[in-house]
Amino acid sequence: MHSKPLVLVTHPMPEDWIAPLLEQTRVVVGPAGRPGVDPSLAPYFPEVEGLYTWLTDRVDDALLSQMPRLRVVSNFAVGVDNIDLEACTRRGIPVGHTPGVLTDAVADLTWALILAITRGIFPAARDAREGRWGMWAPTQWLGVDLQGKTLGIVGLGQIGQAVARRARGFGMRVLYTSRKAKPEAERELGAQRVPLETLLSESDVVSLHVPLTPETRRMIDEEALRRMKPTAYLVNMARGGVVDTGALVRALQEGWIAGAALDVTDPEPLPPDHPLYRLPNCVITPHIGSATRETRKAMALLACENLLLGLQGKPLRHCANPEVYDHLRRS
Ligand code: NAP
Ligand code: GLV
Repeated sequence: MHSKPLVLVTHPMPEDWIAPLLEQTRVVVGPAGRPGVDPSLAPYFPEVEGLYTWLTDRVDDALLSQMPRLRVVSNFAVGVDNIDLEACTRRGIPVGHTPGVLTDAVADLTWALILAITRGIFPAARDAREGRWGMWAPTQWLGVDLQGKTLGIVGLGQIGQAVARRARGFGMRVLYTSRKAKPEAERELGAQRVPLETLLSESDVVSLHVPLTPETRRMIDEEALRRMKPTAYLVNMARGGVVDTGALVRALQEGWIAGAALDVTDPEPLPPDHPLYRLPNCVITPHIGSATRETRKAMALLACENLLLGLQGKPLRHCANPEVYDHLRRS
């Protein structure tokens, strides 16, 4: 009999990022290189009590049914669309996630992408590097101003608000959409809540910050893209599935909108021959919103804390399915 609970960390992590788990539990680490919980970990499933996952791991009924002793799932991400929350709740398993600690890093990258796409930074830098920097000329490499323009934030949560806060420094008017009004954020940020249709038709930059849910999947479809101004830009920092990729390709090719900057795509990774890469009005980064040393370490340690609290039967610091506690009380 082992005295310490068994924890599966689905892929390798730096040791100091999971030090609390290494000290307090028996850790088995899965292999690198392939998304998902690797089948080579199956022999451990009957014993595993804590599961530490990446956003590329699918946690569903089929996996959970092989882990009868599982007491907590801890996702190294704020988004939990990779996890069947309902199946976890039904089994009395709390799901941890990492909001807050990554908010500023993601908001900063949002602005990096807004500036990159509206000022054409990548094509201009590529021209310079590849020898196409001739004599300076007034009409070369022209972008557009942000000052006085309208930013539309879809999902004014923690990241959306941090993006709105930065918009004030750029002198932009901010519109937002969300299911519930956010009066405090409206006051602090001077943001105005409008229906999605109004946001799409009035914004010069539309920035997506909603979680991927059945309601938000393909929220930005052909109809939504056609509502946007031909001079407007779309930024997706949420999840690839929020946008209909096929419709976006057509929107960029046919000029329904001016450009797009995507940190997340559908599918992920986007295959190297995907048409989006060939479009000059599209910037793509490989899902690096939270990718700073400080932030990723803070996420890793928060995920450790959630997992250890779950093993101790205590409420997680950030639980994505809080209704699990009612379920546990009732059972
Ligand atoms: P959050 O604080 O929960 O904010 C999400 C917001 O979306 C909430 O305020 C919610 O407001 C709104 N929302 C939910 N469903 C909506 C709907 N159907 N229509 C309109 N608004 C809706 O979460 P967060 O920390 O800001 O993170 C947001 C998402 O960003 C994550 O779920 C994740 O997918 C993504 N993300 C991406 C990266 C990256 O690397 N690119 C990094 C971190 C996070 P209401 O409840 O009022 O609707
Ligand atoms: C990253 O995409 C996250 O959800 O943390």
